[in-house]
Amino acid sequence: MTQKYSPRRHRPVVSALAAVVLAGGGAAFGSVATTAPPLRPITVNLQDKAALRNGALYTVHMCVACHSLQGVRYSSLPKVLGLSREQFLATIGTNGSHFHDTITSNMPPAMMEAYVKIAPPDLTVIAKRRSAAWLYTYLTSFYVDPSRPTGVNNTVRYNVAMPDVFAAMQGLQKPVMVEGLRFGSPAQVAVGVQPLTQGSMTQAQFDQTARDIVTFLYAVAHPHQQQRARLGPWILGLFLALSVLTYLIYRLYWRRVITSEERWWRVGR
Ligand code: HEC
Repeated sequence: MTQKYSPRRHRPVVSALAAVVLAGGGAAFGSVATTAPPLRPITVNLQDKAALRNGALYTVHMCVACHSLQGVRYSSLPKVLGLSREQFLATIGTNGSHFHDTITSNMPPAMMEAYVKIAPPDLTVIAKRRSAAWLYTYLTSFYVDPSRPTGVNNTVRYNVAMPDVFAAMQGLQKPVMVEGLRFGSPAQVAVGVQPLTQGSMTQAQFDQTARDIVTFLYAVAHPHQQQRARLGPWILGLFLALSVLTYLIYRLYWRRVITSEERWWRVGR
């Protein structure tokens, strides 16, 4: 007798195979253990206009040398920073771009790719994807690593291609190494940094500057954040009012409905 192919017969085998492939894939791509350095906590206060302005100044004049922020136009910044158009143009300016342009870097991506093998990512996209604490830790955690072409590495972004643009302000830093795991194999992992040389700012001043930059990046990556926070209580209030109204309607309807017990008492069987 010839055995006909039946999918049902093969199902356990197929499921077992799928399980093995999925588990293997998960181990290879998802859950590979790497010792994660602790993130530095930060509170982003979007009401703090002074922080936003200082952050905008550094971002437009330092970071836009390499990075774009194409999710935002210069013309939308005065409102975010609480400045008039004239004040904005006089203090921060547009780097030679038109006032209504999106913020694009003058550095051609191809040139940057030739230097460091990777085009700097758009900061509005990055600031949306990464948490404020991650960004703050990233900006303050570059450390000296002679094995890298740029001479620096980063605790939260291992083998980063970005040079340490803060070296003159923050001074250089050395890593705090511990025995940990990187991509599943034992390795020396940097979990923090310590000052090595003194920069032009004190550590507290530099931390404040980094916080201001993160505040600005957060504000432009989440342009409706304040509007959402203002609307939230009203929406919750609306739901509450609707709940009260629906409860009253429920009471009204059931007043007319009599249960079988009530019926027995009132009109007999
Ligand atoms: C000299 C060019 C240069 C300057 C100036 C520069 N960056 Fe970068 N940055 C890069 C490059 C290149 C990368 C890509 C690094 C990588 O993927 O390895 C990068 C990556 C980043 C990342 C993304 C890291 C990640 O993996 O998510 C952030 C955030 C960032 N830069 C912030 C800044 C900020 C803020 C400033 C201004 C204070 C700045 N950069 C100035 C070149 C630069």
